[in-house]
Amino acid sequence: MESVLNEQESVDQNHWRLQYHVSTPAFWMNDPNGFSFYKGEYHLFYQHHPYSPEWGPMYWGHIKSKDLTYWEHLPIALAPSEEYDRDGCFSGSAIEKDGKLYAMYTGNVWTGDNYDTDLRQVQCLAVSEDGVHFNKVPQNPVIDSAPEGDIHPYHFRDPKVWKKDDYYYCVLGSRTKDHEGQVLLYCSRDLLTWEFMNVMAKSQGNLGFMWECPDLFSLDGQDVLVMSPQGMKSEGDLYHNLHQAGYVKGKLDYKTGLLQHEDFQLLDYGFGFYAPQTAEDEHGRRIMIAWMAMWESSMPEQKHNWAGAMTIPRELSTKQGNIISKPIPELKQLRQHHVQYKNITVNGEQELAGISGDCYELEVKINAKAASQFGIKVRTDNDTHQETLLTYDRLESLFIFNRDKSGEGDGGIRKAPVGLNDNHLHLHLFVDKSSIEVFINEGEKVMTSRIYPADNAKGICFFADQEIELITLNKWNLSKGVSPLIV
Ligand code: FRU
Repeated sequence: MESVLNEQESVDQNHWRLQYHVSTPAFWMNDPNGFSFYKGEYHLFYQHHPYSPEWGPMYWGHIKSKDLTYWEHLPIALAPSEEYDRDGCFSGSAIEKDGKLYAMYTGNVWTGDNYDTDLRQVQCLAVSEDGVHFNKVPQNPVIDSAPEGDIHPYHFRDPKVWKKDDYYYCVLGSRTKDHEGQVLLYCSRDLLTWEFMNVMAKSQGNLGFMWECPDLFSLDGQDVLVMSPQGMKSEGDLYHNLHQAGYVKGKLDYKTGLLQHEDFQLLDYGFGFYAPQTAEDEHGRRIMIAWMAMWESSMPEQKHNWAGAMTIPRELSTKQGNIISKPIPELKQLRQHHVQYKNITVNGEQELAGISGDCYELEVKINAKAASQFGIKVRTDNDTHQETLLTYDRLESLFIFNRDKSGEGDGGIRKAPVGLNDNHLHLHLFVDKSSIEVFINEGEKVMTSRIYPADNAKGICFFADQEIELITLNKWNLSKGVSPLIV
């Protein structure tokens, strides 16, 4: 805590510091962990290295919120301390039982120098009476080895727990002995004693060598398995990130432990979205949050002693059988300085008075008319020629996110298959100082990325190769949502 506190003030000076996205007060973070609704508040933990802006021995950082909009940092919740978690408290989840909050996580131990082969992973439990201070249970590890069968003995991690009827269930990320991703299902009556049920689902074809961070829940009557497959090969426009995050939906047979499911779908088509985790809240909503980054991408904020952030919370629902993700409505509380336009014709390039910024929400409904290419450039700067280019291509039916001229950091292009509805395109952008999330056609597709533009790259420009109409355009500046850590 001291390490993080000493650094947080200088980290906050950095112009890329996010204003309404969750990040660490300082130093490194990755996956969301233990996302849960407990005693009237949302708790979110995260993989945290509190001594440097690089990944290292993992702790669980902690932040909470009453409304998923205004966040308050809390002291670090878990630290490596025992023989079984000596080299890291890896990812996991949290669940309420008898009024207490239980965190189930993976204890990681390196047994040699090669992090890929020389490791031992076990599953552990810690319990809290106040949601803030956690004690590891004496029975740890509660799952001390991977089951027999075609299951890799060491790559065995990221427990996500839920309750159904009288039982607790947990899914674990795994791989076969010859490196095909899979998910294991366990059940328990008390969270302490776990019984292995089955390999719930496994990679067939191109679904990677390891499935990390599984999550299982039911949504609109279907069972959904979310997971983060490592090492899928790219196919056409898809899967160009190092690792993917997506879902399969179907029906889980709670007797056999087998999930019958359809094909894999991405949850986000941008550059930076990994290890998503969901929680159900008191209204029965299924909320998802993910690490807004990707392993091995460049993270220019590291030179300012921080790294990583969460996406905004997204509410999941289904439409024609597919999952759609929408920004949660609570974020409207952050809105300031509303600017609205109606029925604006764009032909060529067009800027609009009052429409610029680096921390805002922008919603626009476009009538594509006969244009074949049109879109928005954001974070533009005339001096440096920086821009982040968001284009709809009608002939290809693709939405294209181009960050080649976005500033520092990695460039690249990502494409999402998108159709027009009645010749209309709806875009809903959340821009923060160094991030963009684009919700396309009411959350049918989402594209998320970190970008690292110059401080004064604040322009917004609409463009079209033939006349289009901006039927409605609403823009709000968004205010700060995360307050500093005070101990
Ligand atoms: C996913 C992951 C998890 C692991 C954690 C370690 O990003 O690799 O599988 O528990 O990060 O920080």
